[in-house]
Amino acid sequence: MEQENHQPSNERDKDAVLISRRRTVKAIGGGLAALGVAYLTGCTPSTRNTMTESVRTPNPTNGYPIVKIAELSSLKIDQPISFEYPLRGQVNLLIDLGKKVENGIGPSNSIVAYNQSCQHMGCPATYNSERKTLFCPCHQTTYDPSFHGTVVVGQGKAALPRIELKIENDSIYAIGVKGLIYGYRNNLLDGEYV
Ligand code: FES
Repeated sequence: MEQENHQPSNERDKDAVLISRRRTVKAIGGGLAALGVAYLTGCTPSTRNTMTESVRTPNPTNGYPIVKIAELSSLKIDQPISFEYPLRGQVNLLIDLGKKVENGIGPSNSIVAYNQSCQHMGCPATYNSERKTLFCPCHQTTYDPSFHGTVVVGQGKAALPRIELKIENDSIYAIGVKGLIYGYRNNLLDGEYV
């Protein structure tokens, strides 16, 4: 009697184990196939979207991504807005200098943007609103954002890279970089697009 009760139960247990094993093998196989596709395309799932988005909207004239960085109506004179471009970790300042300047855009041709990394040893330069300069606190190099970001005084060996801008309606876009960002062999390599 006891034998009759246990035999059907054992058979059911065996079937359940077999089904479970088949499902596990199938799931592992699917996962390995997905990893294989990712490997062959050079993308991992976590980076594919970011890379694809950047490739989708390149600037046809220079290959840089076109990225909205601020709204014109939110930008105040002498109050910089910080933004990363074109790669994460490449930090820049968008500044309305309040007067017409070389390469300035906007209603008064007063808006410019420069990479913040000092061309001496890479410390972040900050904006001095009284002098309208970009100042590096590490060794006191001073740059002029009203004139191509050139060195006014100090250890810096080159002008700060200028972020090229355009305005459409109320949106300010970064569309390129003039000059090599400190610490990079190419502004578009060795990092993840913003
Ligand atoms: S790092 Fe800026 S002056 Fe040296």
